[in-house]
Amino acid sequence: MQRQGYDRSIALPPLPKAPQDSIFLVAEEAKKSGERALNASIGMILDERGKPFLLPSVRSATEQWACEASTNGFPYPPLLGLPSFRSVVSRLIFGEEKPIASIAATGGTGALALNVKLLKLMGIRRVVLPVPSWPNHLRILHAHDMEVIDVPFLEDGEPSVAALLSIAEKSEHPLGFLLQENCHNPTGKKWQASELKKFADVLSQKNHIALVDCAYQGLGEGVEEDVSMISMLRDASVGLLVSWSASKNHTMYGLRTGLAAACVQSNEEKEAIEGHYRILTREMHSASPTPGQHIVTLVQESFADAWRHDLAALRRDLKRRREHLIEAFPAWQRNLEGVGLYAMLPIESKTIQTLREKHIFLNDDGRINLAGIPLCRLEEFTAALTLSL
Ligand SMILES: Cc1ncc(COP(=O)(O)O)c(C=O)c1O
Repeated sequence: MQRQGYDRSIALPPLPKAPQDSIFLVAEEAKKSGERALNASIGMILDERGKPFLLPSVRSATEQWACEASTNGFPYPPLLGLPSFRSVVSRLIFGEEKPIASIAATGGTGALALNVKLLKLMGIRRVVLPVPSWPNHLRILHAHDMEVIDVPFLEDGEPSVAALLSIAEKSEHPLGFLLQENCHNPTGKKWQASELKKFADVLSQKNHIALVDCAYQGLGEGVEEDVSMISMLRDASVGLLVSWSASKNHTMYGLRTGLAAACVQSNEEKEAIEGHYRILTREMHSASPTPGQHIVTLVQESFADAWRHDLAALRRDLKRRREHLIEAFPAWQRNLEGVGLYAMLPIESKTIQTLREKHIFLNDDGRINLAGIPLCRLEEFTAALTLSL
């Protein structure tokens, strides 16, 4: 029945076809392919049944939060998010609390978007991006009309700062540099500390700004070890924005919890940047949701030892997966010896297609999420891959 006052002749203007996100597309395909599908594409940590794994420490905190929430309700939070959340996460990233401007965000993606907006307000229009990178980096930068200068992350298969250094040295104007902390997505590899130090000094001398994406703290070498680049950049006085995610290291992907932070020199600068963060989030979706912020705060205040223990167990499991694959495919040792969830397998797209026919899903570029393959199915995975090569 036609609603009163509804003019059927008015149509929405036609739109060009939207691009698709390859990672979510593969996830849908994997879901359709049934219970036995192995999805090693999307970055989730799965348990031995292939279901999303919830860290025991996070489960304990969630149960406690659920009881508290039923009494306290869900009031509007401040635009910057819960102060306790911002404080525990700032301590995780930066150690002792020095002046840090921060705002709770909708996952690491929301934190990146806020920091790219801030970078734009600072007058930066060009961002250097080491590639290969997480595909959404490019999308977020383009969505904010940033000119992207891509440079190779690897030289002869190993991370190198050479290309970044050359651009940083030559540029007459400050640029943004989008860098990933440990557990580089997709290669799992990291720069050597000595190389990074040289690069940090040039960034500082030329007033470039580092935008560090920290989405895997604790899943590489350790909670403190995995923020070593941030400490180094900070010690070198580099202008520093950090986008942090709780999705992987608290296994709370769907709670969309993250933090955007900026290192500042004074309380006045902190106030000024937080003023911008407030308005930027207000323009997007107002404050970010609080359930994840409450749970992260509880984890860090009441279950921190258990959380560190959980992460250590995950790191051990990831290492076992890498060792198993290196044993099965010794020629790929250099591809597999990194840290964190990902590695890039040097396989052709026809192999990826053949694997899909066997209900095994990798990214189109050969990226594999090791945490997406249960330990009990590693043999099955290596056998299928061997037959598909
Ligand atoms: C490198 C990198 N940065 C940021 C994110 C975004 O994380 P979130 O799911 O918290 O938005 C991801 C997620 O896969 C990632 O791999």
